[in-house]
Amino acid sequence: MTIAERQLPSNSLAQPRPRTQALLGESAPINEVREAIASAARTNAKVLILGETGVGKEVVAQLIHAQSARASRPFIAVNCSGIPETLLESELFGHSRGSFTGAYRDKVGLVRQADRGTLFLDELGEMSLRMQAVLLRFAETGEVQAVGSDQPGGRADVRLITATNRDLRAQIEAGAFREDLYYRLNVIQIQVPPLRERGNDILTLFDHYLDHASHTHGLPKPTLTPDAAQQLLTYAWPGNVRELRNVTERVVLRNRTRPLTPEDLPLEMRGGHTAPATTVSVSPSSTESPAPREARSDRVQQLWDRMQVGEDFWAVVREAFRARELTRGELAALVDRGLQETRGSYRALLKIFRLPPSDYKRLHAFLYQQQCNLPVAQYRKARTTGAQASAGSR
Ligand SMILES: Nc1ncnc2c1ncn2[C@@H]1O[C@H](COP(=O)(O)OP(=O)(O)O)[C@@H](O)[C@H]1O
Ligand SMILES: [Mg+2]
Repeated sequence: MTIAERQLPSNSLAQPRPRTQALLGESAPINEVREAIASAARTNAKVLILGETGVGKEVVAQLIHAQSARASRPFIAVNCSGIPETLLESELFGHSRGSFTGAYRDKVGLVRQADRGTLFLDELGEMSLRMQAVLLRFAETGEVQAVGSDQPGGRADVRLITATNRDLRAQIEAGAFREDLYYRLNVIQIQVPPLRERGNDILTLFDHYLDHASHTHGLPKPTLTPDAAQQLLTYAWPGNVRELRNVTERVVLRNRTRPLTPEDLPLEMRGGHTAPATTVSVSPSSTESPAPREARSDRVQQLWDRMQVGEDFWAVVREAFRARELTRGELAALVDRGLQETRGSYRALLKIFRLPPSDYKRLHAFLYQQQCNLPVAQYRKARTTGAQASAGSR
């Protein structure tokens, strides 16, 4: 157990962290990241970590802390997405008793608890504009102002590391991210490359996580045929290392005794060849049954499974869809399946799709654009007739 872990506070938003991990891989881009970590660790400067989902941004943040002079102090990670801004503010900066309903006593915020350590704010791009203003004030002055307190709470000595998978420049253009905050946080910038650009690291990581999964589940570690290894190297890995971990777990659980061939890998990894493309057209104004059940190909099942084990909708669907590896009919079938579970609630669908509530509009806009914003009446009817008795009740 690391010191950082022992000193973790009991706040609800700070997740318990596993022991600081090694950054696996020897490819040139990963070696560059390693050098960037070492040089960032020699300073106290703010770091902005950029990269797609699942590339290891949090691992990078942990390593900067662990190699820095602050290593014996806490590393506190906070995920800024999907948290109501008032809660986020009070978790970060604390609150004084009576400042809102339920604030029964003074509470020390995470920023204070991270004093002389490192505060890692993940999913920075999801932060509301008001919260960005609060963060800017802290980033500029180091002053900690508790919610509901009229006195300044003094300064905290905290090293700030932030991360996002969003294109902050584009968000600035769109008025969704403050340019002054961007400049304030972007002192040292580290770009973590996508997995598909790391060559043989893919095999190293796959082997490592096969070991891990077979150990965890007490099952034998599978071997790979050369074709299957080739498939791993050519696949695009839109969910990056997080997706790779999921895949290793799935193949271990399948518990095949012979070496794995490409056919043993999840369907979405096998390119467009094996998955029959469906030609279902979906009309947004249709009041018919939204997506015929035949459209539920194996691929839909695979995408569904990936969300069940923790990947979010964007990671699972968007790139496959843009690369035309996923048909509109399949996307509609996925939405159809979700809406059956939620009995027509798009809000509840967010949860199933592993998206924060703040992604409601974004999801709607995406589905509308793809003409997959299925009408919900159909699913509601199922509830009153009791036809979907086995569907989830959320
Ligand atoms: N280079 C790496 N070596 C070992 N594990 C990694 C590496 N990069 C990422 N991981 C693992 O992949 C998962 C996703 O990493 P994480 O840092 O949470 O990604 P991000 O914050 O970029 O979405 C974690 O389980 C992490 O331990
Ligand atoms: Mg992350």
